[in-house]
Amino acid sequence: MLTGGWIMSRSGALCAMTHAMGAQASTLNASTLPTFVDRLPLPPIAKPNGMRSLPSSPKIKLPYYRLAAQPTEMKIHRDLKPTRFWSFAGAVPGPTLETRSGEAFLVEWANQLPLQHFLPIDHRLHGAESDKPQVRTVAHLHGAFTRPESDGYPENWIVPGKSVLYHYPNQQEAAMLWYHDHAMGINRLNIYAGLFGLTFVRDRVEDGLNLPSGKYEVPLALFDRLITPDGQLYYPISEKPGAPWVPEVFGDAILVNGKLFPYLEVEPRKYRLRVLNASNARFYHLSLQNGLAFHQIGTDQGLLPAPVAVKSLMLAPGERVDVVVDFSGSHGEQIVLQNDSFTVMQFRVSANQVSDPSSLPAALRPVPKIPESDAVKTRLLTLDEYQNLVAEPILMLLNGTYWHEPITEKPLLNTTEIWSFINPTDDTHPIHLHAVRFQVLDRQHYEPWTYQTKKEFRFLGPRVPPEPGEAGWKDTVRADSKMVTRIIVPFEGYTGRYVWHCHLLEHEDNEMMRPYEIVAGT
Ligand code: C2O
Ligand code: CU
Repeated sequence: MLTGGWIMSRSGALCAMTHAMGAQASTLNASTLPTFVDRLPLPPIAKPNGMRSLPSSPKIKLPYYRLAAQPTEMKIHRDLKPTRFWSFAGAVPGPTLETRSGEAFLVEWANQLPLQHFLPIDHRLHGAESDKPQVRTVAHLHGAFTRPESDGYPENWIVPGKSVLYHYPNQQEAAMLWYHDHAMGINRLNIYAGLFGLTFVRDRVEDGLNLPSGKYEVPLALFDRLITPDGQLYYPISEKPGAPWVPEVFGDAILVNGKLFPYLEVEPRKYRLRVLNASNARFYHLSLQNGLAFHQIGTDQGLLPAPVAVKSLMLAPGERVDVVVDFSGSHGEQIVLQNDSFTVMQFRVSANQVSDPSSLPAALRPVPKIPESDAVKTRLLTLDEYQNLVAEPILMLLNGTYWHEPITEKPLLNTTEIWSFINPTDDTHPIHLHAVRFQVLDRQHYEPWTYQTKKEFRFLGPRVPPEPGEAGWKDTVRADSKMVTRIIVPFEGYTGRYVWHCHLLEHEDNEMMRPYEIVAGT
C-alpha cells in the first residue's frame, strides 16, 4: 500500500533544466574552461565483423556486428585529463550503426566491463539489490521495432564475460535511433558512464529528397555530466546513508559527441543536424545565438510532412530532432549553439563562396493522421510521485503500480489505442514506449486534486494540439506537468512483452517503468 501524498512542491524538470546540481564541492565549474578549443568529434561508423545467420534461418546471411561494453578513457576537453568512461567498443557515443529500411542486421552485445561499478549503486532499488551482480548490461535499440527477445528487456542483463546476439529486422522508415543500456536499477549509471550510441535507418523516400548528406549531415549527441577537478565523471548522491539515489542529475558540462564546448567548421551552405538528447534528466532548449532558424524536418521516428521553421528546439531526454540549418548567409561568422544561456558549441562558417546542390523540399513524407475513431481502447495512466517524511520524492510509479506487479497493459496486436498520460506532478516526464511509434493527439491542463479524489476531470483549458515539430511519428513524448497528454498508438509488429517508461533515467530506475504486453488478437 502506498502512503504519502502527491508531490506538488518540487521544481519541475523544465524549470530545473537551467540549474545544474553542480554545487557539490567536488565538481569543477565547467564554465571556467576555455570554450571552442576542441574540434567536434564524430562517432566512428560501425564496421560489420562479417556475415552471419540466425539459427532459425541458416540460409540468410546478415551483417553481423560485435559491440562490447568496455572501459575507455577519452579527452573531453583540451585542458582536462582523460576521463574514464564505459563505452561500446571504446567510443562514447559508441560506433554508429547504419542500415537501410528492411535490411536486417545482427549485433552481438558483449559485456567486457570489470566486476565493480564505479558509480554509486543504490541497493534499495528494484533489480539492484545487494544480491545482484554490480555490473550488468543489456542493450536496447531505442525506436527500433524488434521481437521482444532482441529488445533488451531490463531483466535480461548479462554479466561481465557474457554476450548475447540480437536480431534487428529494421522494417521501419528512415530515422535516427539510438542504442543504450537498459539494465534494471542501474540504467541511469550505465548510460551516465557512456553506454550509448547512434543508429541510422535510411530509405528511398529520404534518398529522393536530396537533403544535405555525407559530411554535410552531422549527428549531435548531447549529454551533460558533472566533472571532478581531475576530469572524472561525478555522479551525485543523496545525503541519506545507504540510499544514494537522487531524483534527477543535471551536469554543467554539456558534451557534444563527447567534447565540451567543441567547434565545427562549416561551409556557408545547408547542413543537416541530427540531434539526440542522451542526457539522464536535462531538457534542452536550443537556439542559435544569431537568431538563425532551424528548419525541423524530422522527429524521433523520421521525417515530418513538411519542414517547420523554428527559432528554438525543445528536446526531452530520449527525443531526437532532425533539422536543416542554412549557413549560406553567414559567411565568416561564428555562431554559438546555446541551451538557454548555456554555451553548447560553435559553428565557424568559412568566408568562401560555395555551391550548394542540396535541397530543403517543401514536402517531405506524408504522415497520415490516425483518426481517433481508430482507437479500440483508451487507457488513463497516471504518472505518480510519492513522498514519505522527507522532501524528495521517494518513489515514482506509473499508474500507481510497481514494476513487479502483474501486467495491466495488454494491447491487441494490430489494434490502435489512445494512451492518456495524467501528470499531477511538477515534473515533465518524457514517456517512451518500446516497440511502437505513435502520434501525439493533444495536451490539456487539468486540475489534479479533483481527479485524484473523484476520478473526474476538471479541465482548465482547451486541448492544445502538438507543436508543429511534434506532428510526425514519435516514440517519446513530453507529458507536461498538470496536463493530460494523449497519444494514439498503432500496436503493429510483434507480440510479446515490452516496456514503457519515463525517460528521466533516475525516475526510470526508481519504479517509473512498467512492462506491457502486445497480445495476439482472436
Ligand atoms: Cu531509450 Cu526504454 O529507452
Ligand atoms: Cu519521470
